[in-house]
Amino acid sequence: MNEVIKNIKSRRSCRAYKDEQIETETLNEILECALCGPSGMNKQGCYYTAIQNKEILEELNNAVKEVFKEKGETRGSNENYNFYYNAPTLIIVSAKKDYKYFYTDGSAGLENIFLAATSLGLGSCWINQLGDTCNSPLVRKVLDRCHIPSDFNIIGCAAIGYPAKQSIEPKRVPGRSLIVR
Ligand SMILES: Cc1cc2nc3c(=O)[nH]c(=O)nc-3n(C[C@H](O)[C@H](O)[C@H](O)COP(=O)(O)O)c2cc1C
Repeated sequence: MNEVIKNIKSRRSCRAYKDEQIETETLNEILECALCGPSGMNKQGCYYTAIQNKEILEELNNAVKEVFKEKGETRGSNENYNFYYNAPTLIIVSAKKDYKYFYTDGSAGLENIFLAATSLGLGSCWINQLGDTCNSPLVRKVLDRCHIPSDFNIIGCAAIGYPAKQSIEPKRVPGRSLIVR
């Protein structure tokens, strides 16, 4: 099996991270891989904002929890809840609300991030909570601090860091691929 295929097959969602921050050079390499993703009509309309500031990340978590609390969701009142699993780095993928290839381009970029992270010995996980909450004023206030424009929505995020636990491989639903000749 070649190294690329081995890397794709070994990627797992990581939900426990060490406190240790990832190196700037490593983060830049990952961001470059995100930017190398395919984009519809080569429009390149997705943006990748990496947050490594613990105070901002905690502020973002508190804002998301507040939204959940307002919605009556129990995780909003759980003091241990952290939507990005306390990862030291969170890459927020965003694009203009009306960008035609919003989810498709963003997902391609995210997968590049996950694969690059795996190849560099890092854990990573798709984080979805900002997609639904980004337009609440509390969350938007933190996104403003991160220079994400107010006419942008969030496609998804990537939590990244050194894994604190080995992830379990999920069972694959069989019968989902077919070769027609
Ligand atoms: C659109 C999308 C949203 C996801 N959102 C989350 C999330 O918010 N939190 C989380 O822990 N995992 C999230 N995941 C990761 C999936 O739970 C994970 O990919 C799945 O359980 C399979 O595990 P694997 O990634 O280890 O193969 C998301 C994945 C996708 C594609």
